[in-house]
Amino acid sequence: MAIRNVIREGDETLRKKSREITVFDKRLHDLLDDMQDTMYQHDGVGLAAPQVGVLRRCVVVDVGDGIVELVNPVVVSKAGEQVDLEGCLSCPGEYGKVKRPERVCVKAQDRYGKEIILEGEGLKARAFCHEIDHLDGILFKDLAIEMVDVEDEK
Ligand code: NI
Repeated sequence: MAIRNVIREGDETLRKKSREITVFDKRLHDLLDDMQDTMYQHDGVGLAAPQVGVLRRCVVVDVGDGIVELVNPVVVSKAGEQVDLEGCLSCPGEYGKVKRPERVCVKAQDRYGKEIILEGEGLKARAFCHEIDHLDGILFKDLAIEMVDVEDEK
């Protein structure tokens, strides 16, 4: 496993549409392992493959209750709404208020190609939506109601 470089806003890779994954091999597993390492290294709650320069449809999420890997994820239903602050490892130091569904149901595959259905609520729903948006070249700043100055609390 290895830490990969997280690319920043301004790199056109982040604006491209990622391609579906059809081969569930060691290369994919290495990518997912590296994405997990990279996310934890940066204290993120999610990371999408294009953020490490790979235009393939997979994301990792961990909102504090364990790692979730989603390959070819699709939001199949959503309910409610929430507005909260959001940031992104590709836009360090920037935060904005973004409206997201309160609950989502996501259909995806695991790293072996098996179909999985996952539900997310609150922060997890937000993270799923944010990361899946990355696969279509969408950044949270595109959706932000307003950008917010957050004082560094460290
Ligand atoms: Ni992001």
